[in-house]
Amino acid sequence: MSSDTAVTFPESFIWGAATAAYQIEGSRTVDGGGLCLWDEFAAQGGTLNGDSGAIAADHYNRYPQDHALAQELGLQSLRMSISWPRIFPEGNSTLNQAGFDHYDRVLDSLAECGLTPMITLYHWDLPLKLQHAGGWLNRETAYRFAEYAEAVTRRFADRVPYWITTNEPWSCAFLGYARGLHAPGVRDYNAAGIVTHNLNLAHGLAVPAIRASDSSAAVGVVHCLQVIEPFSDSPLDVQAARTVSGEANGLYLEPMFKGSYPQHMLPYLPCLEDPKVVREGDLECISTPIDFLGLNYYVHEVVRFDRTIPVIGACRMAPLGPLTTIGSGLRPDGLETILLMPLQDYGCRLPIYVTEVGYLFNDYVNPDGRVNDTARVKYYDEAFRAAARAMAKGVDLRGIYVWTLLDDFEWDSGYSSRYGIVFVEYGTQKRVPKDSAYWYRDVIRRNGLA
Ligand code: FCB
Repeated sequence: MSSDTAVTFPESFIWGAATAAYQIEGSRTVDGGGLCLWDEFAAQGGTLNGDSGAIAADHYNRYPQDHALAQELGLQSLRMSISWPRIFPEGNSTLNQAGFDHYDRVLDSLAECGLTPMITLYHWDLPLKLQHAGGWLNRETAYRFAEYAEAVTRRFADRVPYWITTNEPWSCAFLGYARGLHAPGVRDYNAAGIVTHNLNLAHGLAVPAIRASDSSAAVGVVHCLQVIEPFSDSPLDVQAARTVSGEANGLYLEPMFKGSYPQHMLPYLPCLEDPKVVREGDLECISTPIDFLGLNYYVHEVVRFDRTIPVIGACRMAPLGPLTTIGSGLRPDGLETILLMPLQDYGCRLPIYVTEVGYLFNDYVNPDGRVNDTARVKYYDEAFRAAARAMAKGVDLRGIYVWTLLDDFEWDSGYSSRYGIVFVEYGTQKRVPKDSAYWYRDVIRRNGLA
């Protein structure tokens, strides 16, 4: 399928945009909301330039206009997250009714704009009180998550067709606890294994809780699968790439689809053989069948053996070719690879949604008022073609959500670069649809690529 061939998607295909509460809402403690671990991480200097979600795109107040804009751009669905500390500000059983009421109004607004909600229950804003009680290193957090998931889905039952339990557990675990780049900024590889298990368990516990309170909805999870290639054919590079892929992909897909952790990862993550961490029945719970899989695509890396890298002895590098502004490799084709991975490696035939695919750039508004994000358009065009190729090879892809609707607070880069299809002028909170937004509107209209 070359880039000049027209591509048409199935009639029922869903085109949307993805967002996350902490990244756009602002107004963190308004209406009784509680702080989360990212507020603390930012206050402690953990984020770039000390940026935080304190104001962000002010979506907490501007959601009606933002939904109307999404409708104008032809979007059919919005993936959003509910902020856990707005519902349970203390992380315990004390419910904040005002938090529920806010999201009630948000759901009304989405319905008025004809936007189908896909809702993520955990997009990284863990209530600070729970973080102080051990966060995801504490198994109890998984039980608190299931209680929160139950409460939210009971309140909004029949209004949300798609519930997502957790977003990218790999990022929480390995960026947050092994590499120290994300909150809470810990560098301990084995700790990332414990966090992985507790997040997998949180997902597994939440699935039946959600089904019990909202039997009509589909329940899924979101993983960021990664294309990992060895730098050379040397056995050491091949082994290093296998380890990195096991970390990024295997630790999440295998327990869900096979009820086990990859054997070859156990020497690096002794916690996964510790019966106090992985208890009897846990893997059975984690492998509870789900209704769909959400996949985010950002990472395509080349891995080389490097004995100076602690524990795994593997160094990740960007592949050759164009780079984004933060230096990761740009490979829209890799979307095909990650979409095929669950089918090829686990025989998984679940419906799949691309729950995020995006392009980071230092966009700016031209004197003529336009944002010419041509490179983003090209990236999306190639990525959507890659998705169509995966469908032709048997992947049951049901929809694509671009990351993201609005420029936002980014976990790695704060406000210094932008992912939105709509530019946000942070001083005034003015919204300017970028060229990619109009291009996307045309894709949605024709349900395909020209
Ligand atoms: C993903 C996150 C999302 C966003 C993109 C760029 O890992 O799920 O919130 O920040 O990266």
